Amino acid sequence: MYRKGQIVELGIVDLGDKDQCFGRLEDGMAVFVQGPAAVGDTVKAEVFKIKKNYLAARLREVVEPSPRRTDPVCPYFGVCGGCKWQHMDYAEQLRLKRKQVQDALEHIGGFKDIECAPCLPAPAQYGYRNKMDFSFTDLRYLTPDEIGTEPGQHAKPLDFALGFHAPGCYSKAIDIDRCDLSTPEMNIALATVRAFCLRHRDELPVYSTRTHTGELRNLVVRHGGNTGEFMVNLVTTTQNPTLMRELCAELEAALGDRLATFVNSTTSAKNTVAFGEREFVLRGPGHITDRLGDLTYRISPNSFFQTNTAQAETLYNQTLAAARPGPDDVVYDLFCGTGSIALFAAAHCGKVLGVELVESAVRDARENAGRNGVGNCTFLQLDLKDIRHIEDEMKAFGAPNIVITDPPRAGMHPKAVAMLRELAPPAIVYVSCNPASLARDGQLLCEGGLYRLASCQPIDLFPQTNHVESVARFEKAI
Ligand SMILES: C[S@@+](CC[C@H](N)C(=O)[O-])C[C@H]1O[C@@H](n2cnc3c(N)ncnc32)[C@H](O)[C@@H]1O
Repeated sequence: MYRKGQIVELGIVDLGDKDQCFGRLEDGMAVFVQGPAAVGDTVKAEVFKIKKNYLAARLREVVEPSPRRTDPVCPYFGVCGGCKWQHMDYAEQLRLKRKQVQDALEHIGGFKDIECAPCLPAPAQYGYRNKMDFSFTDLRYLTPDEIGTEPGQHAKPLDFALGFHAPGCYSKAIDIDRCDLSTPEMNIALATVRAFCLRHRDELPVYSTRTHTGELRNLVVRHGGNTGEFMVNLVTTTQNPTLMRELCAELEAALGDRLATFVNSTTSAKNTVAFGEREFVLRGPGHITDRLGDLTYRISPNSFFQTNTAQAETLYNQTLAAARPGPDDVVYDLFCGTGSIALFAAAHCGKVLGVELVESAVRDARENAGRNGVGNCTFLQLDLKDIRHIEDEMKAFGAPNIVITDPPRAGMHPKAVAMLRELAPPAIVYVSCNPASLARDGQLLCEGGLYRLASCQPIDLFPQTNHVESVARFEKAI
């Protein structure tokens, strides 16, 4: 009845998995549509997969736009995977973010009787990021307009790109001239570094993930949202002191005093992660600082720091509100990064133990405690996957009344969840950047009725993207 290549017309009623939109044909057949459609659109889509219960199709035309649509500002929209929701107005983005969390809790976690609070909006919807990580590649990703262009006719080289990986394509990157989530300084640094690297291609070849040869890997820029301190960190395979000094001079000429520090990090790892093994500081102290509330944080090139400064403050205030620490409480801050949450909680409780894997982040956490005059925080560098090492340290510190856990996107290792169940504090506050792993880990925590999910607050730290942060409170039930 259906055939591949057939054009079907349907109304979009919901978002499906993996950024697809969902609707039904008049006969009730479900259709998952790939491409930037919005709920409320009527679209034409081309069928490319036929299953018994559903069709998969690609968006071909918006016949009747949804009233929730808005014009994307970015020239790379639809190609770059970063801001997939630029075509929806902000109220719709917030509605869908709350729904994502609610759906994950219900369908993955089995939490049927929890009502998520409305998603807290961000004050700035563009230019809000305090960190950008641009990748170098020797395979430039072609935009749809460029496909079919003769090799000699391209405006930009084919074997050089500095920008973002196209979705699901780690060997290629889209060459980006500017990003609207960046600050103006970040875009100036991007242009300066690109021009310099293109001029010095022979001495600074791009690192190839196929042959594992070459130098240029990542450009990471960080901008203190409340201090304005700006860091440029160029990640290369080896150090070239002469060229790095030249690049430093060009960055200084372009940015003046706005450039607080320039670091050249080197790594021999055979992956694309912007994580330096060694750091060569060419200007400034090699780190920047940022402020959240009354606290000042030191941020090194490898340290995790929430990428939206204004909303990090909202996130931590919500975390405190969910944790409700008392003056004598013992609080654990697991996956503590540079100690941001621990230091926020410290003034409201007896003492805090922060646990983190990355050595430089732990160093920053200790330094942050010192510079803020916080004396009741202890930070340990430990792998939360390997719980055998942690048990002794935790016994020595004292059992927690409250555990705050803020794991990476993948969520917690099952052994870490098991350890939490053994520790069995009266309250666990789970800070999550991935509703699916929150729901999965939450279900494990609550197994056998040991905990119950008491509340969940979604917060928008990443406008224009489909990412959402949440703060969930679990209470011991037995
Ligand atoms: C989402 S960040 C949270 C950081 C911090 N709570 C904050 O808001 O700035 C997750 C942190 O977990 C750390 N991490 C990842 N795997 C870990 C592990 N196995 N053991 C301990 N920490 C880990 C990362 O280095 C990162 O700092």
